[in-house]
Amino acid sequence: MAVKITWHGHATFSLDIEGVRLVVDPFLHPHNPAATVTAEQLAADFILVTHGHIDHIADVLPLARHTGAAVISNVEIAHWLKKQGLPSTHGMNLGGGHTFSFGRLRLTIAHHSSELPDGSYGGSPVGFLINCNDGHDLYIAGDTALTYDMKLIGDAGGVDLAILPIGDYYTMGPQEAAVAAQWVKAKQVIPCHYNTFPMIQVDAAAFARRLQQEAEIDCTLLAPGELTAL
Ligand code: NI
Ligand code: MN
Repeated sequence: MAVKITWHGHATFSLDIEGVRLVVDPFLHPHNPAATVTAEQLAADFILVTHGHIDHIADVLPLARHTGAAVISNVEIAHWLKKQGLPSTHGMNLGGGHTFSFGRLRLTIAHHSSELPDGSYGGSPVGFLINCNDGHDLYIAGDTALTYDMKLIGDAGGVDLAILPIGDYYTMGPQEAAVAAQWVKAKQVIPCHYNTFPMIQVDAAAFARRLQQEAEIDCTLLAPGELTAL
């Protein structure tokens, strides 16, 4: 059990990769109506930020300040966070990879938009492809439409776990996410970015059944605060 994954509701996850702690898109209590924990209650060595929208970045500053975690994002968001006084940021860009203490991470294309809370330009939204030190390959799609570029991930061998938005309205809905899961050749899917707000209510259980029946892909539905392991 070398990779542990905890969902905090919406698009916020804690990952523990052989003891290195990552938090993805921190949007926590009380900002995130689904979250059961505050930024002060989470540990992190790294914080991953897919884009600048408030439902992904609201708790980056308090979490980074109390943990000292390095933030990994795109160059525009890294610059913006530096201006807010964060000392440790990695401003990467689409297609670029880097080897960190938890494994190799690459920024993938996400078709979405990005504006920071003060109206600053947030650069291109991203997803993350992580080749974990223990051998597991993870894909965190970020907020995105279904995009044909996802086939590149499948062509390169696929992933053990894909974390995909299914809420519709702002991102892919369940129908497109089921296609995405097959295009990236995921062995397992954890859906996110659903049921947080009225506009993104979906039947996640139906999505899970459909993935299993149509594509024989396992789908794990977590409750906020719940943990699973690869
Ligand atoms: Ni967004
Ligand atoms: Mn979002």
